[in-house]
Amino acid sequence: MKRTKITDALASTDYGKEICVKGWVRTHRSSKAVDFIQLNDGSTIKNIQVVVDAGVCDEDTLRQITTGSCVAVCGLLVESPAQGQASEVQAKSVELLGGCDATYPMQKKGQSFEYMRQHAHMRLRTNTFGAIMRIRHNMSMAIHTYFHEHGFFYFHTPIITASDCEGAGQMFQVTTKNLYNLKKDKDGRIDYSDDFFGKPTSLTVSGQLEGELGATALGAIYTFGPTFRAENSNTPRHLAEFWMIEPEVAFYDLHDLMDLEEDFIKYCVRWALDHCMDDLEFLNKMIDKTLIERLQGVVKEEFVRLPYTKGIEILQEAIKNGRKFEFPCNWGDDLASEHERYLVEEYFKKPVIMTNYPKAIKAFYMKIDAERPVCNGEVMEETVQGTDVLFPQIGEIIGGSVREESYDKLMGEIESRNIPMKDMWWYLDTRRYGSCPHAGFGLGFERLILFITGMQNIRDVIPFPRTPKTAEF
Ligand code: 4AD
Ligand code: MG
Repeated sequence: MKRTKITDALASTDYGKEICVKGWVRTHRSSKAVDFIQLNDGSTIKNIQVVVDAGVCDEDTLRQITTGSCVAVCGLLVESPAQGQASEVQAKSVELLGGCDATYPMQKKGQSFEYMRQHAHMRLRTNTFGAIMRIRHNMSMAIHTYFHEHGFFYFHTPIITASDCEGAGQMFQVTTKNLYNLKKDKDGRIDYSDDFFGKPTSLTVSGQLEGELGATALGAIYTFGPTFRAENSNTPRHLAEFWMIEPEVAFYDLHDLMDLEEDFIKYCVRWALDHCMDDLEFLNKMIDKTLIERLQGVVKEEFVRLPYTKGIEILQEAIKNGRKFEFPCNWGDDLASEHERYLVEEYFKKPVIMTNYPKAIKAFYMKIDAERPVCNGEVMEETVQGTDVLFPQIGEIIGGSVREESYDKLMGEIESRNIPMKDMWWYLDTRRYGSCPHAGFGLGFERLILFITGMQNIRDVIPFPRTPKTAEF
């Protein structure tokens, strides 16, 4: 008989119909006359209750139906007398598809997230990780749908690259060279001419530079792919391998960019509320009691748009009034997460799009502002049209900018930052052949999932996290 997914069986009122469900046993309760099995097949957070009357299934099989085992049940869909569930299955036959050893690591309830990480190959079977993975899928669909409906083309940028987009030097090298026998030139430098690509290559830290080539031909593109950073950041917000969404749009200015950032994030959050309520209700109950309220708040609220210089003034005013921070915050400093959280969670109490950062702390490609800012009455250094979207609990969720479209100014930045020109000639060609104003941003997919699920650690919102010293599974 054709299998019915548990999500469909639970939604059906076709009582009396014979169906077949298959899944993994969450619990099995036995009494003399009847057995109750809670079955889950991953299609929904909800289990279906299977009622097995005495005699339907032999004793030996029943004994092997333990938590974690896999069974197929055929029987009648019936209205459930039990509270909180509409329907259940009155079994006619129960087949054990796969027994489960007593060592099954997800047997006990209430294990710590640390324990679950050590068993990440099995944690997917738990309610929490099932919910997170279904939400990840739904958010992927939201993202593709948003861009498709708004006329953006999905553009595939390379994973192996010879250029460092962010210029931070945090790249994983890609080579087929024998590391035990490296050929070096007379100055002791490694000779890459016989390497696979004939030059040093790495895993991409961002698809932006190639994305700009797409946008200046197709008008509006987005990427959605794996991204790699070899930064030794052991924080609950950083992964060595994460997924990034990078839209890039021709003829956009700073205001268009901020409008897109805000509209896009709100669309994603609304999508979660519309499509993932069962999973969100579970997470709201088990992980964070204010989750749904927070998501509903973000959809309604207008984001604050705050120039960096104004942000510094607010922070310095707070310090003057006795607010203590661990790190200093003078104009020109990169804001620490405590500063960002103060602005977002205490001062404004809503998401903040911070703009016009000091040039020195941002990437080479950002458009330089025409005027220098005035901070507490003094004229400061040059700023750029970069934007960071700062979210409650998360901090930076989006980083983006208007791009410098002037060949001369861009070249000036490349030279003053000692970025190797030979890697950049193709990028500069966008500024030589019909250059145009354009802008884009990058959203860290896992940071979005952190926000939507209320989870605290980024390692728990991706199936198999890669972080310093961890690449298991
Ligand atoms: O701010 P970032 O470094 O910006 C860029 O890469 C630009 N090229 C994007 C663009 O304009 N097209 O990274 C963008 C976002 C961050 O805001 C953060 O959400 C996420 O990517 N991110 C990380 N997420 C998880 N782990 C890491 N190590 C991350 N580094 C950045
Ligand atoms: Mg950033």
